[in-house]
Amino acid sequence: MSNLDQMREEWLGRVAGAEDAAALEAVRVAALGKQGAVTALLKTLGGMSPDERQETGPRIHALRETVTGALAERKEALEAAELDARLARETADVTLPVAPAPRGSVHPVSQVMDELAEIFADLGFSVASGPEIEDDWHNFTALNFPPDHPARAMHDTFYLSEKGAEGGDRLLRTHTSPVQIRAMTGREPPLYIIAPGRVYRSDSDATHTPMFHQIEGLVIEKGITLAHLKWTLETFLKAFFERDDIVLRLRPSFFPFTEPSVEVDVGYSIEKGKRVIGGSDGWMEVLGSGMVHPNVIRACGLDPDEWQGFAFGTGVDRLAMLKYGMDDLRAFFDGDGRWLGHYGFGALDVPTLSGGVGA
Ligand code: PHE
Repeated sequence: MSNLDQMREEWLGRVAGAEDAAALEAVRVAALGKQGAVTALLKTLGGMSPDERQETGPRIHALRETVTGALAERKEALEAAELDARLARETADVTLPVAPAPRGSVHPVSQVMDELAEIFADLGFSVASGPEIEDDWHNFTALNFPPDHPARAMHDTFYLSEKGAEGGDRLLRTHTSPVQIRAMTGREPPLYIIAPGRVYRSDSDATHTPMFHQIEGLVIEKGITLAHLKWTLETFLKAFFERDDIVLRLRPSFFPFTEPSVEVDVGYSIEKGKRVIGGSDGWMEVLGSGMVHPNVIRACGLDPDEWQGFAFGTGVDRLAMLKYGMDDLRAFFDGDGRWLGHYGFGALDVPTLSGGVGA
């Protein structure tokens, strides 16, 4: 084998043996760099006789071409291998289950509404609803508010500038009581319903906001008395506040749509300087209620000698404040994430009577 053949074998061997890009570059410099072995051979061409050069020249050039080609090929192969290795290393297993991390929380108003629905569902009540834009008849007239009665003014009503289809006033409902009328006119008694929802009054301070939430309760049945009302409220408040020492005080009151009307106070005690529902150190007003007025039953097309019932209404926001200890109602509707983070409830904590309605 000639010298040149030997050289070719040697350099091809070294190229093939280079394990990575750095080793390959070292081989390239050693063969083709300024001081390289193949470069040195090329330099000998200048000192040769024309005959010698004609014979040896093409072979030296061919050697350089071969080594150059082998280097390029090896480089490509090394790069491909590196890419394969990276692809194998950087895989993401898309079949891995995603860990659920629910963000956000349930607003105390929604939580309390869910709690109330749960408690009353257990007593056989279903949830009813009505529109927030009401007409004067459902919000006042059918509820036995006489025309120009001061009670209409008491509610600080927001009126709409456009009249309704029959020419009557339209307004934002001032209480959930119009749902009583919608239930009595829309379905056959007996009725056992609760109606939670938004109501509106032109009022604003630490305990009043122009929009707030009420829950209405209505029973229409035969032979219903005040005793049924008292038992129902006591059972509801014990379940809601999750205490057995709930004491009720019924005080005579006035609502146009109930007769007799009773305001319900709940006893509280002082624990660590704070008022806590339960016991009887003092009294807090929590509910308006009474026996449904015969005029209301009549206005809904029913015979008051046949059907009687009771109704009650209270503020959902107020119940939330009493149970969970907030002292400013306005913060309920500020939409501040920090407040919700503090007072909110877990999205997956659904209130149940068996698990505790307080979540
Ligand atoms: N609607 C009354 C209010 O908003 C509450 C109430 C409801 C009173 C049902 C008696 C019966 O103050």
